[in-house]
Amino acid sequence: MTVLVTGATGTVGSRVVAALAAADEPVRAAARDPDAARESLDADAVVTFDFEKPETWGDALDGVDRLFLVRPPQLSRVGAITDFVDAAERVGVDTVVVLSVLGAEKNPLLPHRRIERHVEGTGLDWTFVRASFFMQNFLEEHREEVRDGVLFVPAGEGETSFVDARDVADVAAAALTEPGHAGRAYDVTCPEALTYDEVAAVFSDVLGRPVTDANPSLPEFVWETYRRGTPLGKVLVMSAIYTTARFGLAGRVTDDVRDVLGRSPVDFPTFVKDHANDFAVERSPAPSNSRN
Ligand SMILES: NC(=O)c1ccc[n+]([C@@H]2O[C@H](COP(=O)([O-])OP(=O)(O)OC[C@H]3O[C@@H](n4cnc5c(N)ncnc54)[C@H](OP(=O)(O)O)[C@@H]3O)[C@@H](O)[C@H]2O)c1
Repeated sequence: MTVLVTGATGTVGSRVVAALAAADEPVRAAARDPDAARESLDADAVVTFDFEKPETWGDALDGVDRLFLVRPPQLSRVGAITDFVDAAERVGVDTVVVLSVLGAEKNPLLPHRRIERHVEGTGLDWTFVRASFFMQNFLEEHREEVRDGVLFVPAGEGETSFVDARDVADVAAAALTEPGHAGRAYDVTCPEALTYDEVAAVFSDVLGRPVTDANPSLPEFVWETYRRGTPLGKVLVMSAIYTTARFGLAGRVTDDVRDVLGRSPVDFPTFVKDHANDFAVERSPAPSNSRN
């Protein structure tokens, strides 16, 4: 029987595929463009899959008993995902691990919580992996700022318990392959919450050059980020996330990574060291999104 990984080309899913393959678990990567996915993924089996195209679900689910479920940020219709969960249960999937968001349980309107609640109502064994803000966002959204030496984040003095996507993936892989995780919700965070001033100090220290935090106001952030070319919808989502941090709601630290994996989570200095080349000023190619 096989594990189907949705979001397999994404930040967490790609690392889940790698972790399962390394453990010799039969894994199938789901992607809208399988040829492109094969080039970027270390996976033997890639299948065409789209939450919005039910005609792709049958082949994707054939012979699958476990499912890693990712809600694509760009997919606003929760029903496409919950319908897929129901289809998975109908064809014999017994376990689902859902990638969710830290604090989801407190926000019934959040799409992730709506998916969680739907999953709770099925007969599936479920595990929720509620992740804090990914360190990898610095490779994607903020890489140029780090290279230029000025972070531009409207989080004030609020702390965030950043988590490395490698830890998120390892917790998910454990929940997919080991007994004892059914009915559990894990809050995955790093060992220490940091303000963005402290984040800038870590970048300065590890990279050996000054990085500061501009700490803009929310209107400054919205205008400047939109002016730099980020689509307005994404600017608003980022604003909501950073406002949560500004109000001190993103800093909760837990021991869940250690409890599940039996090792410490990756801390922020280690993340920066591991990706120092991606943040180097001389480099211009896109981030490696390395799964190491
Ligand atoms: N960023 C954070 O700090 C953070 C923290 C906690 C939780 N989260 C949650 O994590 C989730 C995103 O995970 P991620 O960052 O690993 O993903 P990601 O890097 O944003 O990638 C999105 C994935 O979704 C797939 N996808 C897009 N549209 C699809 C569709 N219609 N049908 C099927 N697949 C589709 C893409 O695959 P293809 O294009 O190859 O099909 C891709 O693999 C979101 O729910 C987000 O809220 C994020």
